[in-house]
Amino acid sequence: ETHSLEERFQAYVDAENKVEPKDWMPEKYRKTLIRQISQHAHSEVVGMLPEANWITRAPSLRSKLILLAKVQDEAGHGLYLYSAAETLGADREDMIKDLLSGKAKYSSIFNYPTISWADMGAIGWLVDGAAIANQVMLCRTSYGPYARAMVRICKEESFHQRQGYEIMMQLARGSEEQKAMAQDALNRWWWPSIMMFGPRDEDSPNSAQSMKWKIKRKSNDELRQEFIDKTVPQAEFIGLTIPDPDLKWNEEKGQYDYGEINWEEFYQVIKGNGPCNAQRLAARQKAYDDGKWIREAANAYAEKESKRKAE
Ligand code: ACO
Repeated sequence: ETHSLEERFQAYVDAENKVEPKDWMPEKYRKTLIRQISQHAHSEVVGMLPEANWITRAPSLRSKLILLAKVQDEAGHGLYLYSAAETLGADREDMIKDLLSGKAKYSSIFNYPTISWADMGAIGWLVDGAAIANQVMLCRTSYGPYARAMVRICKEESFHQRQGYEIMMQLARGSEEQKAMAQDALNRWWWPSIMMFGPRDEDSPNSAQSMKWKIKRKSNDELRQEFIDKTVPQAEFIGLTIPDPDLKWNEEKGQYDYGEINWEEFYQVIKGNGPCNAQRLAARQKAYDDGKWIREAANAYAEKESKRKAE
């Protein structure tokens, strides 16, 4: 009995084996992973910008240290993920060029402004909370290097989520103004956070194949539902209100029903028309240009070293 390479690959994945860099894989599997992992890396790197905005204005030394450490963690996550994409044959310089030209996507969430300190709380609590829901599932993704990178990233993300929730709790239990600030941040970040999971399953072009290859282990809507069910009680606990009048517990399903997401807004943001898309890409372009001298110096040094070794 003969099986095609594709069939053998599928059987290998179905048996819960990990695919490693030198294994044979369908070209589309490789391309899908490069797309998703590079997009994920870009999200980590662009994701530093909204929070970096508050490092110099953190209200205490303690909160400044925590925020600084968190933003540095995100840079680290970006680096592990670019390395994971490189194991598939992607070139880092090309990936970064695709980000800067607008060809490659990064998470929609990072195109919203951070206008108050409470936004640091809302980002940690909601954005990192949503990221964890997605990334816990990715710890079991079929591609070995991606799965292993996710294990470490999830540990750090859960610390980020807790620091955000702590900020929200402090504000929610503070003065009337502080509580209003926390509620305002929740109002602005709730809907963009639940958009992070991507389009509805029936409108998600990549899901079916990615689920079959076990790149994704849960669908966009399943993860969104898990996140909502976990987060609503957390909001109630600190006395804040989720800005969704249609949100209600569905006894029969054992989960929350929620209102209609503004998909027009989602597609505008991923097309580049969100409130901060231009500002985010300009900041990355500037960082790239400012870093030119160090890339040149590193290349010149590497060349000199390899010549010296050859002599
Ligand atoms: N922001 C930007 N683009 C998105 C988003 C989003 N929130 N959700 C979906 N998209 C894009 C997809 O990348 C895809 O675009 P492409 O085909 O041009 O690349 C398109 O919308 C259609 O969506 P799907 O078919 O559902 O795409 P996919 O199967 O890749 O699922 C998902 C999207 C769930 C985001 C997946 O790529 C994933 O799990 N990525 C890894 C996690 C990640 O990137 N997290 C980033 C935010 S968390 C953080 O950085 C802290």
